[in-house]
Amino acid sequence: MNAVPRVLAIESSCDETAAAVVDGNRVRSSVVRTQIDVHARFGGVVPELASRHHLGAIATVVDEALAQAQCSLDALDAIAVTEGPGLVGALLVGVQYARGLALACDRPLLGVHHMEGHLFSACLGDDEREPTPLAPHVALLVSGGHTELVAVERLGRYTLLGATRDDAAGEAYDKAAKLLGLGYPGGPVIDRLAREGDPGAVALPRGMADRDNFEFSFSGLKTAVLVHIEQHGLPPSRAALADLCASFQAAVVDVLVRKARRAVRRSGLGRLHIVGGVAANAGLRAAAAAAAQQDGFVLVVPPLRYCGDNAAMIGAAAAARIEAGCAPSVELHTTSGLDDARQQLP
Ligand code: KG4
Ligand code: ZN
Repeated sequence: MNAVPRVLAIESSCDETAAAVVDGNRVRSSVVRTQIDVHARFGGVVPELASRHHLGAIATVVDEALAQAQCSLDALDAIAVTEGPGLVGALLVGVQYARGLALACDRPLLGVHHMEGHLFSACLGDDEREPTPLAPHVALLVSGGHTELVAVERLGRYTLLGATRDDAAGEAYDKAAKLLGLGYPGGPVIDRLAREGDPGAVALPRGMADRDNFEFSFSGLKTAVLVHIEQHGLPPSRAALADLCASFQAAVVDVLVRKARRAVRRSGLGRLHIVGGVAANAGLRAAAAAAAQQDGFVLVVPPLRYCGDNAAMIGAAAAARIEAGCAPSVELHTTSGLDDARQQLP
């Protein structure tokens, strides 16, 4: 056993086939093969195609991760895999491949909750950034499938403060982009256009913003974009499109930051981590940085390479679980939350 657990991790919950080798929170290699091109023409992820492409890519991606880390299977302490939540067929490819590998090289296999992986993305280090331990914090988890505020006391001690009642923030971006004919995934393209536009140009609703809770709602915002298009047609110029994107982004960022800073204040934890694909959003990062400065809390956002789905975060979470004495187990699941009893430590 290495001083810090060395883990080969696999992630295949949605449309990225990823593998990584980590020493605890230090990334030795991280390979991500995205399927965006496969799904883009359908305007969203097609589950059956995702499974098939994971199957085609997984062996090469794992071999690349091992080669880049200059690591043989013998040098590993454990293998980790995302066990859920995600698309069942896609998860199955990673889980079965990891089971086979673990059996072949006689190493323990740990299943990791995808969102616990995202929590560890804020702790990852590499040649450009020092790894950090998991400190108590409020996490704003914002991805294609989740929008949640979670109080993280320590590994396995997660209290859900609030979540979205309908669409996730990333999903809202993807749906708005589809309405505007901007393709999939919508987040990066709306984010780029928003930089050129006026966030006050179009009045759009801020769902649940005034409610004194930590819940979110983004479906009304999506409907408001649809109604705007029905009334005014698709934006006739790049400037008009940029204005609509900037207004949309302001509406999303406004509620996310408003509720996150309130959660930090009430929790007394003094620290906010923003993780998940939407953490890459430039508007969100800037607004959160301004709030952190004003309120005096510590803000951590992972570098862009660890915001979207990757396996390094899964490996780091598994390494922490090994160090905490968790027994190896994998239980494929598609919907469970971070506060599920299965995430608690023994
Ligand atoms: O964490 P992630 O890679 O996969 C899931 O676990 O869902 O998140 C993907 C989501 C997509 O909805 C995508 O549109 C969104 O993250 N996203 C962004 C940006 N980059 C990715 N949303 C807003 N701004 C971005 N720059
Ligand atoms: Zn994710």
